[in-house]
Amino acid sequence: MPDSRVRRSRRFLVCEPRHFAVQYAINPWMHPDTPVDIDLARGQWQALISAYEAHGHTVDTVEPAPGLPDMVFAANSAVVVGGRVFGSLFHAPERRGESVHYDTWFKAAGYEVYRPESVCEGEGDLVWTGRYMLAGTGFRTTRDAHREAQEFFGHPVISLTLVDPHFYHLDTALFVLDEENIAYFPEAFSPGSREVLARLFPDAVLATRDDALAFGLNSVSDGRHVFIAPQAEALAARLGEHGYLPVPVDLSEFHKAGGGIKCCTQEIRS
Ligand code: ARG
Repeated sequence: MPDSRVRRSRRFLVCEPRHFAVQYAINPWMHPDTPVDIDLARGQWQALISAYEAHGHTVDTVEPAPGLPDMVFAANSAVVVGGRVFGSLFHAPERRGESVHYDTWFKAAGYEVYRPESVCEGEGDLVWTGRYMLAGTGFRTTRDAHREAQEFFGHPVISLTLVDPHFYHLDTALFVLDEENIAYFPEAFSPGSREVLARLFPDAVLATRDDALAFGLNSVSDGRHVFIAPQAEALAARLGEHGYLPVPVDLSEFHKAGGGIKCCTQEIRS
C-alpha cells in the first residue's frame, strides 16, 4: 500500500498570527490567564506555511486585523467548493468582525461571497469530502446553516451532531484523507451520527481520544502527505500503515486557543 497514495496540489488561504492571543474563552481550551508565546506562535505558523510550500501547495494570505485575536483560524471564515464561497456568521460576538476581512479578500480575488443567515463557522464545521459536505452542529454551526449550505452548493449536506465540548468544531474530530476516506474520533459524535459515519466510511481510520485531544484530527491531507500534530503519535502511526505520509508540524501555542493545523488553513477549491 505505501506509495499508492496520490498527492494533489492545493490552494490554501491563511492569516498570519500577528495579533494572535487568548483574550476570551469560547471553548474549553481557552484560558485567558495562560500566556501565549507570540514569537513561538509566529515561528510555528511559519513552519506550517513552509511545509505546505515545500510539498508543492499554493498559499495565499489575508491581512490580519488588530483586535481579532482568533483571525489566524482561517478555516472558520468560509467554505469554498467549485469556486463558490459560502461565508461565515460567527457564534461568538468576539469573532463576528472576522468575516468581513475574509469576504473582502475573496471579492478582491474575483469571487462572489454568500453571507449565511444562520450561524456558520466555515470549514470548522462544513467539511467537503469530494462528494458531499459533512456538517457539524451542536456547539457552533446550526442546522439551519446546513440547509442553507445544501441549497447554496447543490451538494448533499450530511448533518452530524457533536457531543463533546472539547471537539466543538467538526474539524477537531474528523478530517478528510482523500476522496475515498476520512479519519475521525467516534465518541465526539452522537450515537446516530456515529452510525451515519460508519455507514458512509466503513474503512475510516479511527482515532483515540488522546489523538483527538492532541489535535491529531485537526489535520490537513493532500491525499498523500498528512500535515499532523506531532503529539498525535498513535494516529500518525496508523496513517502510515494506511499508506499516508505524516508530516509533523507543531502548533502547540495555537492549541491554547483550541486550534491546530486545519483551523489555520482554509482550502480554496476552484
Ligand atoms: N478560538 C477559536 C474558537 O474557539 C478557535 C477556532 C479553531 N478553529 C477550528 N477550525 N476548529 O473559535
